[in-house]
Amino acid sequence: LKRIFIKASNEYEVLIGKGILDNVGEYLAKLKKPCRAAVVTDENVNKLYGVRVINSLESAGFSPFSVVIAPGESSKCLSVCEAVLDMFARGDLTGSDIVVALGGGVVGDLAGFCAAIYRRGMDFIQIPTTFLAAIDSSVGGKTGVDLASGKNLAGVFHQPRLVVCDTETFNTLSPDIFSEGTAEAIKYGLIADEALFEKISSGNFLSETDEIVSRCVDIKGGIVSRDEFDKGERRLLNLGHTFAHAIENLSEYKISHGAAVGMGLVLAAQTAVRKGLCEENLLDKTKEALKTILYLLARLIHFLKCFL
Ligand code: GLY
Repeated sequence: LKRIFIKASNEYEVLIGKGILDNVGEYLAKLKKPCRAAVVTDENVNKLYGVRVINSLESAGFSPFSVVIAPGESSKCLSVCEAVLDMFARGDLTGSDIVVALGGGVVGDLAGFCAAIYRRGMDFIQIPTTFLAAIDSSVGGKTGVDLASGKNLAGVFHQPRLVVCDTETFNTLSPDIFSEGTAEAIKYGLIADEALFEKISSGNFLSETDEIVSRCVDIKGGIVSRDEFDKGERRLLNLGHTFAHAIENLSEYKISHGAAVGMGLVLAAQTAVRKGLCEENLLDKTKEALKTILYLLARLIHFLKCFL
């Protein structure tokens, strides 16, 4: 089990390991007395892991109930947020209970936002089940929803009390969903760790996901501890994301976040080269790295032909 300590306004641990989903209740019991727990998840993740998490929470003395939303970015909106808050109220959730976000980035962002505003703020934990959520969105406390006019336009910073990342959950991801996280891992390599960049670029890292997740979380934790509220250094974590958010929004979210981040990284490198802000070969290196993401390639090639 790997443990990474995140030092933000609320300090917490990120636990990374295989098969640790069944220990969620035990970990949570070290932080909170038995209470009600709203497990927010989507239909797909619920089928795969809902019962294991509910059983683990019950065994540790918690009283969990499930709040299941439809999968996909369209659920990250104010109307679903309102429905989730209403389910919290119907489930007699109080401000001293806990919200458990079980799923990928959509579930984590939405459930975290609901926890931040329900009864003016309550505790939540993150259980990321995608590579992307594990290395990026579950850590650092950015929560929120999309508006019709743009992605993540309504939200607050609300740090989780704990992040439990069971890397065995990646085994049930389709290759294209897994590869979305790879684009974010390349981002971490570009901003902070050349060896990580080379490792991901080689495509030879699938047996080392625990180490990759740990390294990315470690990088993010350091940045968040120095700039929790995104006023300076944390903006590095948005590399490629300004382009990505525009691409996602204009495609009406048919292009996924990870694929859009891949495109955004290429566009950011191209812009930086044009402006003389980085070495010329960075653009080629970025494209090469992204080529290892086989399942993004078709979409990327189409994009590159259209725009570059
Ligand atoms: N995903 C970028 C950040 O958390 O700042």
